[in-house]
Amino acid sequence: MTDLRGRDFLTNLDLSPLEYRVLMDTAHALKRGEFKGQKPLEGKTLAMIFEKPSLRTRTTFDVAMFQLGGHSVNLTNAEIGLGVREPVRDIALNLERWVDGIMARVFLHSTLEELAKHSKKPVINGLSDYLHPVQLLADFQTIEENFGDPKGLEVAYIGDGNNMANSFVEMALLTGVSLTIATPRGYEPNAAVILHALEQGAKVKISNDPVAAARGAKVLYTDVWVSMGQEQEASERRKIRDFAGFQVNPELLEKTAANAIFLHCLPAHYGEEVVEEATMHQKSKVFDQAENRLHAQKALLYHLMRD
Ligand code: CP
Ligand code: NVA
Repeated sequence: MTDLRGRDFLTNLDLSPLEYRVLMDTAHALKRGEFKGQKPLEGKTLAMIFEKPSLRTRTTFDVAMFQLGGHSVNLTNAEIGLGVREPVRDIALNLERWVDGIMARVFLHSTLEELAKHSKKPVINGLSDYLHPVQLLADFQTIEENFGDPKGLEVAYIGDGNNMANSFVEMALLTGVSLTIATPRGYEPNAAVILHALEQGAKVKISNDPVAAARGAKVLYTDVWVSMGQEQEASERRKIRDFAGFQVNPELLEKTAANAIFLHCLPAHYGEEVVEEATMHQKSKVFDQAENRLHAQKALLYHLMRD
């Protein structure tokens, strides 16, 4: 049996393909209600640190801990002042004495690495500027619900080569999906992430043509053009201009396979990367995907934090 207890989860590549399989099987079982009445994390506490806003991540980790018999403590950056009120190292060295796991949403990925370096308790990436691995667990649970084994499945990611896109590239390596990422020129995902995935045999194509990427795809994915922390007016204006043609709308969905699904991690910036008609389209599974944040993270917490 794969044992993830005590491990950090900073990137999807912290999992082996077998560990991914075990985690997903647990997520599907949790969704079917197979753990009902059990409290595997009774007496356990998760500290949740937020340097950025959140609806889904905050709510689903909190509800997940409650449903597994434990509880969570929410810490906003206004209160704890990561690296300002006190060093990240000291925050880790304090929290590990009281809690059984730390989930953090941060700007710099290095903040997570610093927390993980100094905390003996598992540290979970709840989003950094670089990666959003817990989102990808829910995304792939949703993909598996619709298509079974994702290996070889044609996935198109359209838009900004941001934290979501980087994590998608890592998931292409982990799961064997055939991934095409279409971004405007200059907005491609992290080059080192792509290179590593390609060297390890992932099927990843980088393109600047959203229509070609969408054509025949089984999964069409998009995310915002302006991520949290990039809101400065000048950069927002530049991005919105540069991204013309990269919007997911019913016309683009028309190009995908007949049984394709549309996913978006949310929040949506309607009128930019997506229109409401796409979120509400018959191909859209975005609210199943949001629901699966709960099941997938329960599976993750169970495997990392159980005795
Ligand atoms: N998708 C996602 O992480 O949502 P929140 O920013 O609301 O947590
Ligand atoms: N790329 C987005 C994802 C939000 C869940 C951001 O970082 O804001």
